[in-house]
Amino acid sequence: MSNTRPSAPAGPGDFPAWQRIMADVAEGRINPSEAVRRLVLVRGGGARSAMPTTPPEGYFGPRPALSAVPAAEAADAAELRRRHLEEARRELATMPGLRSVKETVEELLAWVQVQRWRMRENLSSEPPVLHMVFRGNPGTGKTTVARLIGRMLRDMGVLSKGHLVEVERADLVGEYIGHTAQKTREQIKQALGGILFVDEAYSLARGGERDFGKEAIDVLVRAMENHRDNLAVIFAGYPAEMDRFLRANPGLVSRLPIQIDFPDYATDELLQIADLMCQQRQYRLTEEGRARLREFLETERRAVNFGNARTVRNILEAAIRQQALRLVGRNLPVDRDRLMQIEAQDVSAAVKRLFGEGKAPAAGRESEAGESPAAAGRDAAMQRLAQALGLLAGPWTGENAI
Ligand SMILES: Nc1ncnc2c1ncn2[C@@H]1O[C@H](COP(=O)(O)OP(=O)(O)O)[C@@H](O)[C@H]1O
Ligand SMILES: [Mg+2]
Repeated sequence: MSNTRPSAPAGPGDFPAWQRIMADVAEGRINPSEAVRRLVLVRGGGARSAMPTTPPEGYFGPRPALSAVPAAEAADAAELRRRHLEEARRELATMPGLRSVKETVEELLAWVQVQRWRMRENLSSEPPVLHMVFRGNPGTGKTTVARLIGRMLRDMGVLSKGHLVEVERADLVGEYIGHTAQKTREQIKQALGGILFVDEAYSLARGGERDFGKEAIDVLVRAMENHRDNLAVIFAGYPAEMDRFLRANPGLVSRLPIQIDFPDYATDELLQIADLMCQQRQYRLTEEGRARLREFLETERRAVNFGNARTVRNILEAAIRQQALRLVGRNLPVDRDRLMQIEAQDVSAAVKRLFGEGKAPAAGRESEAGESPAAAGRDAAMQRLAQALGLLAGPWTGENAI
């Protein structure tokens, strides 16, 4: 029965249609990528659940269809990878700011692609060495972008897994001779097929010649050579410290062909990030709330060790908890809009909570909930109430602040 053409009309999850497409490939009427395109249509936009899990008895029939299945599957996998790559690129593109970072990543992807095409055509090509330096202050998106690059390189078939293993000095450096090499090798093993992200990498060099950090660097350098085709090591940290670190380790620099700078975000970019984070959580800053946040960020972003997007995230998460307190303590109907809105007073209360009284913008200038002594008492009562209601299941104190 395998080669008879079923007459049933095609539709999502329609087995005869799938069977027909496979028969078309088997008999050479269409190529595998055309088959994938049709299968996706039949499945109604790629919903795998629409595919029958087990074909009926005798479906594959004699030989031809059997060999067609792996071909179609390979094409299917390639299509899936292409879509994943597009998804990761779109995610990067949607991140506010990071203009030069985005350009460098696109350059990197294009270069990798062209090297592979050249290799296919037997033209001289460089095997991609993907070790990198990320220079930037905290919260400028280094880890997030590294994670995206891992996914992109996996989808391009360069890295087999594309996952990210984030380590710092304490994960690499041991306490006695031999311990460091063992610890570092263990992390490298975990990262094979993906990215080893060494955060605050300069701290590996802090103790000078006799420090075990030196040993960790040596082991890393060896791994960067030996596993160059299936491991990307990224050294990340504050710009000035990274420069000093690299100057002190010339052997390392020559092995780090890609250097990406992550600039501090401008206030407008930080606000766009805030909007994006709100949107992802189905909240929204009111105009006043946004203005209040802007006011705080404009001063705070000049502070040493300002946490950039991480500070924004911490404030929003705290503001969400402050909004909950406000809603619970108020005798008003709670509608959809109120549940979504983060108001100026939520932002002020969040900043006060995270950074202390002095930093809260507009504190004392307006009479708002939580800013007068009487309101403070009410605030505490509301907090207890919210706690009792289980609203504060997560960490309340914002201990992750910066
Ligand atoms: N451009 C951006 N758009 C949206 N979110 C961002 C952006 N940059 C950073 N973030 C967010 O800020 C937080 C800190 O970013 P992260 O990548 O950990 O920074 P770093 O590694 O440089 O300290 C994360 O929650 C991240 O998702
Ligand atoms: Mg980080």
